[in-house]
Amino acid sequence: MKIRINPERQLFKRDKMIYGHFIEHFHRQIYGGVYDPESPFADESGLRTDVLEAMRELEVPVLRWPGGCFVSCYHWKDGVGPERKPFFDKAWRVEDPNDFGTDEYIGMCRKIGCEPYICTNAGTGTAEEMSDWAEYCNLENEGQYAKWRIANGHPEPYGVKYWSIGNENYGFWEIGAKGTKEWGRLVEESAKMLLRVDPEIQLSAAALADVDWNLEILRNCGPLLKWISIHSYWDQLNQVNRLATYEESMAYTEDLERDIRKVRGLLCALGLEKQVRIAFDEWNLRGWHHPNFAMIPAKDKRDYLIPRDKNDDNASYTMADAVFAACFLNTCNRNGDIVGMANFAPIVNTRGCIYTHRDGIVLRGTYHVFWMYVKLMGDRILDQWCQETEKMTVRSKDGKHCSVDAVDTVAAFRQDGMITVAAVNKDGASERKISLEIPGAARYRVHTLNGESTDSYNDVGLEGITRKNGEWTACAGTAEIALEPHSVNIIEVERA
Ligand code: AHR
Repeated sequence: MKIRINPERQLFKRDKMIYGHFIEHFHRQIYGGVYDPESPFADESGLRTDVLEAMRELEVPVLRWPGGCFVSCYHWKDGVGPERKPFFDKAWRVEDPNDFGTDEYIGMCRKIGCEPYICTNAGTGTAEEMSDWAEYCNLENEGQYAKWRIANGHPEPYGVKYWSIGNENYGFWEIGAKGTKEWGRLVEESAKMLLRVDPEIQLSAAALADVDWNLEILRNCGPLLKWISIHSYWDQLNQVNRLATYEESMAYTEDLERDIRKVRGLLCALGLEKQVRIAFDEWNLRGWHHPNFAMIPAKDKRDYLIPRDKNDDNASYTMADAVFAACFLNTCNRNGDIVGMANFAPIVNTRGCIYTHRDGIVLRGTYHVFWMYVKLMGDRILDQWCQETEKMTVRSKDGKHCSVDAVDTVAAFRQDGMITVAAVNKDGASERKISLEIPGAARYRVHTLNGESTDSYNDVGLEGITRKNGEWTACAGTAEIALEPHSVNIIEVERA
C-alpha cells in the first residue's frame, strides 16, 4: 500500500480534546476507583495518587463528569457542603453517598491539570437547577450559590468552561427521556439560563446521528450552542456479556465516520459548521456490562449488581480494544475540523484504560494507545492519498461478511518539524507493508504497540501488551515499513 504525504499541505490543527475522557458514578469508576479514601495511595482528599499520576501522564485534556445515565436523576446541591445527603441513584440502583461532588471533582481536575466538563441533569432536573450549578461554579460572589461555594472553602470561581445539557435524553433507558419537541424547548430554556449566568461557557446538548432530533435542537438553539454531543459503543455488552472476537471487532471499523458524516452534513445544511463542533463525548469499542437496569429492572441484586464486576475482567481488554481505539482516534484526527472533543468512556475501571486494585493499577492496552497519540502524534493534519489500498474480509458479530481497510493511517505535522504517521494494521494474522512517500524523508523510526496475539492483555503482574521503540532507519524519500499483525504504530519521519 502506497501512501503519499504532502508535508506542505496542512489541512487543519486538531484540538487536543479529541484525547479527552469521561468518568461516571457507576460501579468502581469514582467510588473504589479514583476516589478511595481507604486506599494506601489516597491523598488528603481521598484521591488515589497512582491514578492521578497515570492521568497526568496521559495529559488528559478534558474530563466529563458525573454521567452518563447517572446524571439524569442527580441533584448537584446534595453533593456540596459539609452535610452530604446520600441518595438512591435510580439510574444504577445503588446508594450514592454524595461524598464525591462538585468540589471534589474540580479538585481532581486541578490535580490532573485538565478542563472540567460538567454534564447536567436534563432528566429530572430543570433549567434553573442547571443554571444554579453554573452560579455555584462560575460566579464571583453574586447570589446564594456563589456564596455557598465560598462558604464551602472555595473563594475563587472554578471557571468551568464546558457544560452539556443532558445525557441521551432521547433514549427509553434514560430517566427523564424526552420527545423531540420537548427536548428542543428544554435545551433552549436551559441554554438561555446558563448563558445568563456566564455567557463565556461553551454549551453542548445531548444528540445523536438523527436528523429529526438534531434539527429540533439546532433550529431552536443553534446560536446558543458551541457543541453537539454524540455517543457510540459498537459492541453492546449491556445485557449479555458476549464479547465480539477480534475479527468481529474489526468489522465495526467498516465505517467509523458514519455518525460524524451525518451530523456534519446537518450542521453544514444549517450553516452551523463554523460555530458548532461535534463532541463525541462517550465512545468505546464495547458497552459496559450492566444487565437488567432499564425499564423492568431485576429484583435480585445477583441479576443486576453482581454482573457489573465482569467489567473488571482484564483478560477482556485485548488488542481488539487497542486496535479499535487507534482506528477511532485516527477517525477523530481525520475529522478534526469538525470533531473538537472525544471522551473515552470511561477512563477508570469498567471498560476504561486504567484498572485499579488494592495494590496498584493496571494500564490496559488502550492506555498505551492514548499515550502514543498524545506524546508522539503531531497536531496539524496533513493531506495524504493512498494507492493500492488493501482490503480484508471479516465476519461481523451478526454473521455478515464485511470488507474493511486492512490498514488505517493518518498523517500529522509535529511542532518539532517531524512528520508523524499513525498506522494501524487491523489484520489479525499477517503483516502489512506500507510505502510512505514523503518528499525529503531522510530517516524514520516506528513505535509499535502490540502483544503476541490478538487476545493479549495486561493484568496484575502481566504485561501482555507493550510498547517498543524501533531504531532510526535511513531512507531517501520513501520509507518501506512492514506493520506487525494486529498492531498500533506511530511512525516518526525526519526530513533532510
Ligand atoms: O453503559 C453506560 C451508559 O452508556 C452511560 O451511562 C450512558 O451515557 C450510555 O448510554
